[in-house]
Amino acid sequence: MKKLLYIDACIRNVESRTKRIATPIVEALKEKYQVDTLVLNELPLDIVKERLIQKRVNGVIEPEVMSWAEKVRDADRIVIAAPFWDMSFPAALKVFFELCSIFNVTFGSDDKTCFGNCRAEKMLYITTRGMDIPTGDVLEQATPYLKALSWLWGIGPLQVVAAQNMDYVSSDVIEEKIAVAIAEGMEIVKVF
Ligand SMILES: Cc1cc2nc3c(=O)[nH]c(=O)nc-3n(C[C@H](O)[C@H](O)[C@H](O)COP(=O)(O)O)c2cc1C
Repeated sequence: MKKLLYIDACIRNVESRTKRIATPIVEALKEKYQVDTLVLNELPLDIVKERLIQKRVNGVIEPEVMSWAEKVRDADRIVIAAPFWDMSFPAALKVFFELCSIFNVTFGSDDKTCFGNCRAEKMLYITTRGMDIPTGDVLEQATPYLKALSWLWGIGPLQVVAAQNMDYVSSDVIEEKIAVAIAEGMEIVKVF
């Protein structure tokens, strides 16, 4: 069975609307993929600062961090669930990306430029936003970054399931938006 890596960056955990959308979508994907889940709340995510860079320069990578990078590299599909925070995604996810961006693991380079080493042909990003900001809006800085990182790591096209304006509507409308996003995700599952 092919492998799917699910990166759960739903920091509010049980309170998370993003997680409510992602959970049934990932459950459905378990029919097609062997799913490996990384819950960022549960990982020791060290901010990449001087000490860590020095270790890296000397070829020292924590085995646990290396195992995350290898999961990213070896997954056939990747699903990321992350709420919209400060016009992008939570810093925990950026730290995770920086930790996994390991030379000769997730990416390599020749004498001219970098190239990706990851095998995932598709990546799905699931999110909810407080304000009424659509995917691709200039104020929405999560998907441009994810597209750029996908390029660096050699990951195939990014698909997005998003619900927006979640903080300015009634609870009934929130529920409707969640249902619509799950339905959208289920359509993607069929061809993912
Ligand atoms: C720390 C934090 C930062 C946020 N920043 C933004 C923001 O910049 N723009 C926005 O539209 N909503 C923002 N929101 C609102 C969330 O995007 C919105 O409530 C979303 O549905 C939360 O997802 P969750 O329920 O999965 O945690 C923020 C919420 C939190 C907790």
